[in-house]
Amino acid sequence: MKATARATSNIALIKYWGKRDITFNLPATGSISVTLDGLATTTTVEFDEGCESDEILLNGAPAGDAGARVTKFLDLVRAKYGVSAHARVETHNDFPTGAGLASSASGFAALALACNEALSLGLPTPALSALARRGSGSAARSLLGGFAEMLPGTSPDGADAYAVPLADPGHVPMNMLIAVTSSGPKKVGSTEGMQRTEETSPYHPAWVAATTQDLDAMRRAIADAVLEEIGTLAESNCLRMHASMLGARPPLLYWNSATVAAIHTVWGLRERGIGAWFTIDAGPQVKVICSPIDAKAVESALRNTPGVTDVILTAPGAGASIVESVS
Ligand code: PMV
Repeated sequence: MKATARATSNIALIKYWGKRDITFNLPATGSISVTLDGLATTTTVEFDEGCESDEILLNGAPAGDAGARVTKFLDLVRAKYGVSAHARVETHNDFPTGAGLASSASGFAALALACNEALSLGLPTPALSALARRGSGSAARSLLGGFAEMLPGTSPDGADAYAVPLADPGHVPMNMLIAVTSSGPKKVGSTEGMQRTEETSPYHPAWVAATTQDLDAMRRAIADAVLEEIGTLAESNCLRMHASMLGARPPLLYWNSATVAAIHTVWGLRERGIGAWFTIDAGPQVKVICSPIDAKAVESALRNTPGVTDVILTAPGAGASIVESVS
């Protein structure tokens, strides 16, 4: 009844920003991501009939708002699989939580896997990925290692909306450097941001149409392992997503001045012949793709960018795994 799982963040190369259904948390489009070898969440779940309510600790302290999302997820697991016991959940992130570093991706992937193990549900990876999706859309992709594609599915309950593998972590030699520009939580969460964009931005339908084309092109670029094509597509797709957010009312701008400075650093590197491309999620951090050969030069340029407080070096990594299981 007790299990510990570890999952790492993934960063979308082709983003999802919009939902076809809120209740089942179904994305409006597919997305393609790379799971990282760092930014890990480790989560222990213990179901205990003696617990009066769920007890949730995040980095050693009561989890607050994040705890409510965990309880909602546990309620769903209990209802779906006929479990009555409450749970003790202890989760640790080795990176800032809720600041656009995809903590909900690694968090709900680790939680779904730990629940599967603690309750001996025996779910196959697609069903586990669909379960993790209920916690956070991007979490569905962190169950898998390397390059993964999230399928939006067509079924109303999302049984066919899960992530599938595209390529192993070593298929494309690359690094992803994360330029940290702020460690605080974001002001508008992704669900609220997506809803506002869908409801008020005239550019959102164009974003959805462009994403469909970008998915095809990215699938090919990954299969052919062409880093320049992967980077070019990822950067363009990210900018189009942020353009659709800017068109919302009230507007959504997740960037700060250091985010913009880091964008210029990346463009400056390219002008000097160094292959580097950025992507940015619903937060101010800038994630930079480059060849391992150029990683040192890219890291040093990012560290010298005004407002960048840290640079984290990552690479494609393995999917979520069980660390410990006690029955
Ligand atoms: O799954 P969520 O609610 O964490 O939203 C993810 C949104 C983006 O990170 C901006 C894009 C993506 O596909 O990961």
